[in-house]
Amino acid sequence: MINQEVVDQLSYLEKKVLLALRDLRSADPGEILARAELNQLVEVMNATSWLQAKGLVVVRERVTKRYSLKDPDDARKTLPEKAVARAILTEFDGKATMTQLKRAGTFKQSELQIALGWIRKKGWGEFSKDGGETVITLTQKGHDALEIEGEDELLMKRLAEGDLDENEVDGMAIDQLRQRKDFLSERLVTERDISLTDRGTEIAATGFDIKDEIGQLTPETISSGTWREVDIRRYDVRAFAPTIYGGRAHPITLLIEKIRNVFLTMGFTEITGDYLESAFWNMDVLFTAQDHPARELHDTFYLSDPAKSDLTGDLELVEIVKQVHENGWKTGSLGWRYDWSLEEAQKTLLRTHTTVNTIRRIAEDPEVPFKVFSIGRVFRNEAMDSTHLPEFVQIEGIICEEGANFDMLCTVLKEFYLRMGIPKIRIRPSYYPYTEPSLDVEIFFNGQWMELGGAGIFRPEVTEPLGVHEPVLAWGFGLERLAMPVWGLKDIRDIYISDIDWLKKMPQI
Ligand code: PHE
Repeated sequence: MINQEVVDQLSYLEKKVLLALRDLRSADPGEILARAELNQLVEVMNATSWLQAKGLVVVRERVTKRYSLKDPDDARKTLPEKAVARAILTEFDGKATMTQLKRAGTFKQSELQIALGWIRKKGWGEFSKDGGETVITLTQKGHDALEIEGEDELLMKRLAEGDLDENEVDGMAIDQLRQRKDFLSERLVTERDISLTDRGTEIAATGFDIKDEIGQLTPETISSGTWREVDIRRYDVRAFAPTIYGGRAHPITLLIEKIRNVFLTMGFTEITGDYLESAFWNMDVLFTAQDHPARELHDTFYLSDPAKSDLTGDLELVEIVKQVHENGWKTGSLGWRYDWSLEEAQKTLLRTHTTVNTIRRIAEDPEVPFKVFSIGRVFRNEAMDSTHLPEFVQIEGIICEEGANFDMLCTVLKEFYLRMGIPKIRIRPSYYPYTEPSLDVEIFFNGQWMELGGAGIFRPEVTEPLGVHEPVLAWGFGLERLAMPVWGLKDIRDIYISDIDWLKKMPQI
């Protein structure tokens, strides 16, 4: 930024502080306050932190301990050990017993104890026993101490004059004073030294003038003409401001929107379907044998009301599908070779995959070519864990055209995931009753391979009864599984726990 731009973005207070620093070079907030003729220290500190953010000043902080006397009168009192030592010298000729000292009555019991403790610690006396009596004899050091003022006493006197910084005091003496009960106060003080950076010096030297500043134009400032004389504070678009979170769409909704756009731009048409389906359309038409494990209650949610679907509109197809399952009909297949049951096909269920949408679409309008997709919720009677949900969304699609082949299928899948931001997928052989060949798409995520979905080319047992003779490429992917790598989620359940913080902060893609 050029100098003028920087100057233009300085507030009135920032300018004042900058100019004060130009003269002082380096100063504490109090000195700046006086120099800039401001009213409050907070004005200096606010301006300083803005100037620091703009790289114009640096603030060095030093935290020090400061000591003061709790009661300055204490400094005038004689230390108890000195009083007792003096009594031993003058009243008992340098040697006294405990009983004598107690009896003298000059000292309180508690005071005496403290005093003797210090006499021992400071080496002023020797303690010995004489017939069960404690005898205290003053040492040479004790005699000498009575002639002079000790380091601790001198320090007390200095503290009585005013607080002292930890660097101004003798370590040993202060330790001694700290050991005395209710004697010293300690507090931490932060000293700040503010100085200009090179850039700050340069800006301060440009010699800007300081006008009064207003933050808002009012009818009065305009009609009176004062707006001409004042500076109008500029907006700083980079200034810190709290983020305001408004209402927004759920990330899953947005992801669906994005997927929809990917397919639409790839030339697909969207189709939808119902949650409620018959086993016939969900499974039988897809050549899934009636004893297939996925049809069991623990994988599929069957309905008790209505328990039976009406297939009267599809009687012709019902008859063909029955034959496809029993003997292959005209498809060239041998079928599954069992007695197909209409009752089983009439069961109602919550769709277990959206492949039912695409197969219905083919049945309705089998004219080749077509490219359709659907994004919809499916239901499976599954236990929840970090990669499974009993309700999830599938991204389904089919391409039917002359010459469509397996290579094309793999390319479309890779292209789709690439557009979703996943450059690397693994394609593995798999099995579905309705496709041949079949494949699974996997991604290496959270330290393991995770299945994203399945795909394949519909078998003739599926397409021939619907009157389609060209290859149909088909796939069904999990939306939430795709969301995991896209958003970096370790647990699929996190998507639906409605953590308000997560919802607020998710980018609106
Ligand atoms: N329907 C399969 C599933 O739900 C996915 C799939 C769709 C597989 C189309 C092959 C073809 O897992």
